[in-house]
Amino acid sequence: MEALIALLPGDGIGPDVTNSAREVLDAVARKFDHKFHFDEQLIGGIAIDQTGDPLPAATIDCCNSADAVFLGAVGGPKWSDPNATVRPEQGLLKLRATLNVFANLRPVKIYPELVGASPLRPEILAGVDLIVVRELTGGIYFGKKSRDADSASDLCVYTVAEIERIVRMAAKLAGERRGRLCSVDKANVLETSRLWRDVTNRLMRDEFSAIELETLLVDAAAMHLLSRPSDFDVIVTENMFGDILTDEASMLTGSLGMLPSASLGDSSKGLYEPIHGSAPDIAGLGIANPCAAIASAALLLRHSLGLEREAVAVEKAIERAITNGARTADIVARGESQISTSEMTAEIIGGLG
Ligand code: IPM
Ligand code: MG
Repeated sequence: MEALIALLPGDGIGPDVTNSAREVLDAVARKFDHKFHFDEQLIGGIAIDQTGDPLPAATIDCCNSADAVFLGAVGGPKWSDPNATVRPEQGLLKLRATLNVFANLRPVKIYPELVGASPLRPEILAGVDLIVVRELTGGIYFGKKSRDADSASDLCVYTVAEIERIVRMAAKLAGERRGRLCSVDKANVLETSRLWRDVTNRLMRDEFSAIELETLLVDAAAMHLLSRPSDFDVIVTENMFGDILTDEASMLTGSLGMLPSASLGDSSKGLYEPIHGSAPDIAGLGIANPCAAIASAALLLRHSLGLEREAVAVEKAIERAITNGARTADIVARGESQISTSEMTAEIIGGLG
């Protein structure tokens, strides 16, 4: 097949890992006889530096005409003045809203060889295979903001339709997996959470009665994620809770550098990004872990291009590299040797078969 992929490397280690993802996609194209065209555009801090805008019009145009969008990372100390009116993260949030990718899928899978990299005990990690479905275009991230001399406010709003579409997507996913959905809210305090819970209960009763529904308050969920992570199948939650819980969940795998994400909407066009940030402290050193980015490329192949066989080949190649002992700095254990971003990428490409 032929596809156009928008590449938005962004800041920090974003360009390093985007380059790895692109090399893997190129290798997939060669091996499976596809033609992938890449169009590289600016986003984030580098876009502010070059154009004054964290999401320039040229980037939006490119993403609109592409079949899928791949993003590295945005942000860094250079642009992190809290009083700045233009910030790199605005580019990412606007892109998510523009593409209307309301569902952010963050799968958490344990690589058995890496259990030692997690701060949790191995017996707690056995059998962990969960996916967080984070609502991505609503809630407190997108509500009206205001600030005056001695107060500030961020409005959190959810509509019934926004809750229905994300819970529906999560419930469908649960139906394709182990049939269990956990909805996370803060219904003992927040009105938006009470609406979330009402809508979820109704929808699950009316449309997904075969799916087992569990409801947790977010503080308890944060604890259960560490005490009994293997009990979870699909977790669905609002934007900010999902942001926080997925950073926490990444510690099950031992490193943020292993976790991919796919942001999807109603069409096949998706936005794919590793869940890690721009890691400015290691930017340009060539030591970033490209696995999260490469696994995100696998999700791109699956969800936007419909290339399941190719997606599985990439995922298997990552597993193979890990099994063979390939370790970047973030997952290396004492006594193991450490490899670079490009060596890890080559190892994964070699394992594509
Ligand atoms: C993420 C990031 C972003 C978010 C930031 C960079 C705006 O933390 O994708 O999880 O909070 O959504
Ligand atoms: Mg985050």
